[in-house]
Amino acid sequence: MTRTFLATLALTLTLAAPALAQDNGLTVYTSQHQALTQEWADAFTAKTGIPVAIRKGTDVLMANQIVQEGLNSPADIFLTENSPAMMMVQDADLFLPVAPETLANTPEQFRPQSGMWTGIAARTTMLVYNTEMISEDELPVSMLDLAKPEWQGRWGAAPAGADFQAIVSALLELRGTEETANWLVGLKQNALPYRGNFEAMRGANVGEVAAALIYNYYYFGDQAGTGESSDKLKVHYFANKDPGAFVSVSGGGVLKASDNPEAAQQFLAFVTGPEGQAILRDGHSYEYAIASGIEPNPALPPLSSIDSPDVDPSLLNAQEVVQLMTAAGVI
Ligand SMILES: [Fe+2]
Repeated sequence: MTRTFLATLALTLTLAAPALAQDNGLTVYTSQHQALTQEWADAFTAKTGIPVAIRKGTDVLMANQIVQEGLNSPADIFLTENSPAMMMVQDADLFLPVAPETLANTPEQFRPQSGMWTGIAARTTMLVYNTEMISEDELPVSMLDLAKPEWQGRWGAAPAGADFQAIVSALLELRGTEETANWLVGLKQNALPYRGNFEAMRGANVGEVAAALIYNYYYFGDQAGTGESSDKLKVHYFANKDPGAFVSVSGGGVLKASDNPEAAQQFLAFVTGPEGQAILRDGHSYEYAIASGIEPNPALPPLSSIDSPDVDPSLLNAQEVVQLMTAAGVI
């Protein structure tokens, strides 16, 4: 073999194995915000010297990939935006139990009883509405009202996304199959589908729709910046423990496939510990810090002010939600 060939071969091998399989390092599969994950990784590496490689994808994509790769996955850690994807991996029996001292970082309502993963952040569901198109007394009392005929063509959502599907999974857990299926029929009739939460919010801001059902951080993130996609909007939180006041838990877990489980546990302890949660609070993600007693970002209304329903994150069922949404023609 010639030198050139060997060099080419070496190059090919390097390219074929991207920076994921670092011997002494960690690989994080994440569907959390890229910037937040990177900040966590950088701070963890600075503190411990352990390199961290990140692979980013959506909740469902990454969960499916982990399930497919099984015990051969190069991933050590999985971080998500929402709980249903964590449950997919838990149901496939691919998590190691989270270290008890790490579990203790996160209050019980923000983690599953199983202890196979834990809550790393939270986000709240809300309706943003265009004040030029809708008055306060026209606002729906319940998220379920959005399926009524008077809301036809007047609201937007991003039904294909994991964020929205987590809301539907909360509805399913709280109200059961029939009510959820009926609501989805109303959604199909009434809601303009958008590609993402941000687009739905902007749609309400420019008056394509009067309101959009989104997560909090899209709005508060835009407000903290130029505000150009939210300056005509106000926030409406549903009350009375309505499904529309659902607080979604972002999860973190250590994978059985990890070849460095000690370092992986260390990473999860860091993310849920005071330093990791302070990074979340002080950064630009506008999600809620929930662990280690850290107060959330002061730009956000306190979680205690939101009359959210009690939903056990381990009861959220991604598969049935996808089936129901498919049956309703929403996705
Ligand atoms: Fe999101």
